[in-house]
Amino acid sequence: MPSISVKEFLYWKKKQLFKGGDHESLSFLLDCVGGITNSDLNLLVTNPDNKFNLKKNLDFLESIWENHLFSSSPIQYLCGVVFWRDLRLNVTNKVLIPRPETELIVDIVFKIFEKKSQKIFFAELGTGSGAISIALALAYPLCNGIATDINQDALEIATKNYINSSKYSNLKFYCGHWWNPLENYKGKLDLAISNPPYIPRETYEKLPKEVKNFEPKTALLGGEDGLEHIKEIIQKAPLFLRENGWLILENHFDQGEKVKQLFIKNKFKSVEIVNDLSGVGRFTIGRYK
Ligand SMILES: C[S@@+](CC[C@H](N)C(=O)[O-])C[C@H]1O[C@@H](n2cnc3c(N)ncnc32)[C@H](O)[C@@H]1O
Repeated sequence: MPSISVKEFLYWKKKQLFKGGDHESLSFLLDCVGGITNSDLNLLVTNPDNKFNLKKNLDFLESIWENHLFSSSPIQYLCGVVFWRDLRLNVTNKVLIPRPETELIVDIVFKIFEKKSQKIFFAELGTGSGAISIALALAYPLCNGIATDINQDALEIATKNYINSSKYSNLKFYCGHWWNPLENYKGKLDLAISNPPYIPRETYEKLPKEVKNFEPKTALLGGEDGLEHIKEIIQKAPLFLRENGWLILENHFDQGEKVKQLFIKNKFKSVEIVNDLSGVGRFTIGRYK
């Protein structure tokens, strides 16, 4: 473990930020790869001659930082890690980096199913890194969950994340197109959740390069109008939900009203648009009959 003085380290940090990037990303790198958090550092700075140990040497950390700056690769992919709710999840460029706004889906479920001892049966369509399903499987130890994805590589990452986060075995992972892997569970689900690809083609083409060049297209693009996958998920949901079963979808910031109408057209009731923390109608929820 390389040892370094606080003074030397602060100088190095300033030099890195001078090259570009933001403080938050550098702190993320230092925490995940270097093994030093901001709060560790705040305690150490009282004496600049203090010495401490890093998990990796400064040259190694600098090479990751420069890769991030010069290739625009997201720092989470370079570090292989993301923090989401209270989970530490492994990520590669085979999965979408789970976004902070998506964390709210789990809170929506908590409001609907208040008792954590409930034996809910849920499915998540398009699990990616597994973030949503793992958070639910941990919160409801008696639940049974199925997490699906079209991408086998993503499912392998999600499965590893689940094994690393949980001592339970209440979550299964299946590969396939939307509802197809759930053929045996028709009429049985209490809850189905999805954060499907919903970005309209025109918007997708203009995404910042750190998203478009690195995150999987299949996780982002929702067809011409962004609603291609959302429509399919809503239309088939009635076959799989039990009476009064819930469907919760994440959508693009401006799709709320259209998605609400799709729920209603497909005979859902209690349909509601739920805002994210910035006041954007980011989720649509409803229950089937
Ligand atoms: C927006 S990402 C969401 C990932 C994760 N649930 C999250 O919230 O971070 C959409 C996910 O849907 C998956 N997906 C795309 N097309 C699919 C399809 N036809 N059937 C099943 N999953 C699909 C992608 O592989 C990706 O993992």
